Parts: sequence; structure tokens; C-alpha cells
Amino acid sequence: MNTSHSSGVSIQGASKSYGETQALKPVNLEIKKGEFVSLLGPSGSGKTTLLGLLGGFVMPSSGSIWVDGKDMTFTPPHKREIGIVFQSYALFPHMTVGENVAFPLRARRLPKSTWPEKVKNALAMVELDGYQDRNIAALSGGQRQRVALARAMVFEPSLILMDEPLSALDKQLRENMQIELRNLHKRLGATIVYVTHDQGEALTMSDRVAILRNGELVQIGAPEELHNNPKDSFVADFIGDSTLVAATRIDGNRVKVGSAELTSARALPDSNDLLLSIQTEKLLIDDGTQPDCVNRLSGKVTDVVYQGDSLRVYLELENGKAITLRQPSHYTAAQQIPAIGETLKVALHPEDTIVVPQCA
Ligand SMILES: Nc1ncnc2c1ncn2[C@@H]1O[C@H](COP(=O)(O)OP(=O)(O)O)[C@@H](O)[C@H]1O
Ligand SMILES: [Mg+2]
Repeated sequence: MNTSHSSGVSIQGASKSYGETQALKPVNLEIKKGEFVSLLGPSGSGKTTLLGLLGGFVMPSSGSIWVDGKDMTFTPPHKREIGIVFQSYALFPHMTVGENVAFPLRARRLPKSTWPEKVKNALAMVELDGYQDRNIAALSGGQRQRVALARAMVFEPSLILMDEPLSALDKQLRENMQIELRNLHKRLGATIVYVTHDQGEALTMSDRVAILRNGELVQIGAPEELHNNPKDSFVADFIGDSTLVAATRIDGNRVKVGSAELTSARALPDSNDLLLSIQTEKLLIDDGTQPDCVNRLSGKVTDVVYQGDSLRVYLELENGKAITLRQPSHYTAAQQIPAIGETLKVALHPEDTIVVPQCA
């Protein structure tokens, strides 16, 4: 990736309080040049506040924000070389597409002679060549969001911040735009910090995902790292498609769930309150071909649901806990499909046996 035109960001103990409300507890976070980092968390978890600290529209209550080794903590937004895209496109309805895209150039007092080419290039980047003279009102939602993107990129910022930019679009368009944004990121090489509450979106697009909860940065890692090594039950529940079941410690890497004893490939976390996190796609129907070392559970089938390309089987363990198994339907179709009421034996590899502490 071309990182010549991207910024490295360092967030050092930055926090934000509004009176008694701590919107963001102190965060330490290093973002590398050219990285795509998502801030993922439920509504109210502090994502927009953290993005606001980076953009300069929220002043921190403590700590500092550094961009490329420069302290930017108290630099006003228009003096930061940052492109910003919000959920609501925030376009000027009375201006044409071209005038909207040129706006940051005007605000930065760049020579007017340079505008036409910059606007043209920015519109080409979002595949809106030739749309300069259109009215904003005449565009579809997807086109408007592209104009907003072009406007954020027109002055070639080395850092782009996006706050749920696709959440107003319908599913199909959103998925297309996710792929476009990812490609755009590869081409531009700019550093991107992207806020979303949609885990699928975060996992699809990002190099690393930061999980926020109640104003706290709980864990940051590459998608597979969060998947395979969730720090606690909140992350395990938020990432992927998993079921959490209470477990009791037997020893350093074994737990008991009901009467079943399971071995994890990793040492158990140091907590008295443990949960087994079962990723639905890792639970296998025990067809007798699995090796001896797998963990075995059995449960009563309560429901079987086809979801197009996958088959979902709901099981009730003997202790009454519900767990879910999901596998490609083409694979299952070749076998006996479980019947409701039947007792089904399932297998879970020790590497997929993830035990997490209950989140605080
Ligand atoms: N200007 C503000 N005044 C008071 N409280 C705020 C303000 N902005 C955000 N908050 C509070 O801070 C918390 C985090 O908000 P926010 O960063 O917007 O979350 P998110 O973007 O994850 O939904 C919330 O509890 C919210 O109510
Ligand atoms: Mg928000």
C-alpha cells in the first residue's frame, strides 16, 4: 500500500466527560499510517466522541491526540488536514455537486484555478464523472453519499474520519459501498477511522477493529484475532455468531458444561465467572469421523432452519441451555438432516473451545 500520503495517529490517555457523564474513559490507541481502523460498539458506547477527539470537534477532558508526531489536541478542525464523512450527508442542497465538492478547497483558500481538476478527480474516484452540474436534489441516496465521499477526499487528506456513513443506505447499496470504500482505501493509501455499530461492516472493511462499550475501549485487534481471542463475554457476544454458555473450571484448561468435560487449547482466563463461547460454525455434527481429541456434547434438537446457503440447528443441552450449530446446507444435505426432538451428538475442537470471563 502507498503510505506516502497517510498519517499515523496516537491517542494518549484521551478522555471526555460531560458533567457527571463520562462519555469516554481514557483511551490509548496507536493507528498506523494507511491503516483502516473501525470503532465498533452499541449506541452510546463512545464511538462518535472518540472520532470527535480525532477531528477536533470534541475537546478532551484529559490526554492528548498526536498526528504524525505533532500534538493536535487543541488544533481547531479546519486547521487539521482531515476529511470527514457523516451519516447524514450534510451536503449543501442549494449548491451543485461540483460546488459541494469544491467547498473544502474554498474553505482552505486553495487557488481557484486548481479547483476544476481536483473536483473532477474526486468525482471520478467515486464514479460520478460528469455529475458536476447536477443538483443535489436530483441524486439518489447512494449518489449523495458518494458526493459526500468525494468532498471529504478532494483536498487529498492523509486522514479520513467516517461516522456511520452507510447506515442510511439500503442493504444492497450498503454492501456495494463497503467494497467500494475498501478499494478506495487501497488506492488512496490514506488512514481511515470508521465508526459503525454493524459488526459485519467492521469485519469486512477493517485492518483492525476497536470494540467500545460504555465509553471504554475493551479490545482492539484484527478481525480474526477478536474472533479467536475475545477478551471477555462482551467481545465474544458482539463479534461473529456465537452462543455463550456458563462453564465451571476443572483445571488449567478444562471446563465443565453440564456433565460434559471440555478441553481448551488455551489456558483458561483467570476468573471465577467463566463462559464457553461457541461459534455456531465451529460446532460440528459428530458423525463419527472426528478424532478422539475433540470435545463432545449432546443436546435435543429444538428447531432446524434453512437459511439459504446454511442450515441452522438449535439444540438444548441437558442443563437446559440453548446452543446453535450452523453449517453449509450443501454439506448437510448429503447427510441425515437432524429431526426435531432427536438427540444430536456434536463435536467442538479444542482450538475452537473458547472460554472467556464474564464482562465486568
Ligand atoms: N454533547 C454531549 N453532552 C452530554 N452527553 C453526551 C454528549 N455527547 C455524547 N454524550 C454522551 O456520551 C455517551 C457516548 O456518546 P457517543 O460518543 O455519541 O456514542 P456512540 O457514537 O457510540 O453512539 C453517551 O452516553 C452520550 O449520551
Ligand atoms: Mg455515534
